[in-house]
Amino acid sequence: MSEANDREMSGFQLIGKLLDPASRPDPYPIYADLRGLGPVWIEEMSTVVVARYGECETLLRDPRLSAERWRRNDGDQADRLYPPDAPSSVHQPWFLSQDPPDHTRLRRLVSSAFTARTIARMEPSITQLVDDLLDRALERDTFDVLTDFAYPLPVAVICRMLGVPVADEPLFQRWSAQLTRLVDGLSNATGTDGETPEWVPGMTEMHRYVNELIAERRTSPRKDDLISDLIAAKDGADALSHDELVSTIVLLLVAGHETTVNLIANGVLALLRHPRHLAALGADPNLAPAVVEEVLRYDPPVQLTARIAAEDMRIGEVDVPKLSMIILLLAAAQRDPGANPDPDSFDPHRTQVRHLAFGFGPHFCLGAPLARLEGRLALAGFARRVQDPELIADPPPYREHLNLRGVSELRIAHTSASRRRGD
Ligand code: HEM
Repeated sequence: MSEANDREMSGFQLIGKLLDPASRPDPYPIYADLRGLGPVWIEEMSTVVVARYGECETLLRDPRLSAERWRRNDGDQADRLYPPDAPSSVHQPWFLSQDPPDHTRLRRLVSSAFTARTIARMEPSITQLVDDLLDRALERDTFDVLTDFAYPLPVAVICRMLGVPVADEPLFQRWSAQLTRLVDGLSNATGTDGETPEWVPGMTEMHRYVNELIAERRTSPRKDDLISDLIAAKDGADALSHDELVSTIVLLLVAGHETTVNLIANGVLALLRHPRHLAALGADPNLAPAVVEEVLRYDPPVQLTARIAAEDMRIGEVDVPKLSMIILLLAAAQRDPGANPDPDSFDPHRTQVRHLAFGFGPHFCLGAPLARLEGRLALAGFARRVQDPELIADPPPYREHLNLRGVSELRIAHTSASRRRGD
């Protein structure tokens, strides 16, 4: 058998192992083996898998790679799943899945409303939310960091940015949980056996809600409000159409919720496993930015991203035909010893941290400053306020998600409540 065939066989076996939910707690040894192979071609999936840092970084900037996944027909099929009375905005693609020039135009308009100022004005309310969630959680001797802390925070932040009434936040939590399947990389977005996948009703309901929210805000614009700013956003004479506006707001929830949840939960988990760094952060919140960057490198919330080859190309030793899928394993790339020395150790004191956790190039995460702010305030708040935290199960249970990989529970015991009671 030729060397290329050998590599394909080993690659296929490794991908099989990676897809197995049993690998979720620690996929990193599999990523290391994939890095060792270099880019591998998986014939059955017409897909090439790339795991090394340099190649991932270069490909994320390569204009021959398209973000328009419907080119493989998924989008067309997904489009047909919506009920006939769904609002027209459900058919408006997100700019995350568009190429220039459409992507450039939409991103520029949205960026003019989603600014550093928009994010900075959220800091007091994020600080308050972190404190309120911890107050409630710390009343009990054990709590679940995921459901009591990491999960509710980002959705509350987005809802506040959008001016969604607090009473409606649970709706957004539900929709978000349903929609993650759609963005979870390799999972089947179009359902099996003719069943409607669960994200379809969630997406339809959310579009209806956001359509109404925008109509209300058009008649009564608000100050310091993201929707009002997006409605007013102009680039010369150009503005977002109604459907583009709705689709962008849905994207902000979908791209910004579970990702930030995982940043907080992965961060708490890494700190609990490295108590020295947890104690240092508790004593000095100025360490938070370095801790957040290291969590993003060491155990990133988004493990991979995908592109389509817009033309025939060659990646490493692999011939990649037009319309093939290109999977970029960001989580594997960041543990490449060529990018970060001693990559498997969690070390917030690295002199340089190289990561692709927010992507790279034209689609670089628009919400990165917000995610970083939430991560810093949440991890510093946890480290400062939770006394003697201990993981109840290590490893904790994981969800099945491959891309938005994260724990399904992160239960801890602590002494904050008993100390308060004077036990
Ligand atoms: C730790 C949390 C987050 C992580 C790890 C993350 C990760 C990413 C990644 C990897 C991409 C690029 C995807 C690609 O190239 O295919 C991306 C894009 C994006 N993210 Fe984030 N994200 C996070 C939080 C957020 C937040 C809080 C928001 C907004 C509220 C947000 C909004 C977006 C948007 C709009 C895009 C599309 C950018 C474009 O296509 O030009 N993200 N994110």
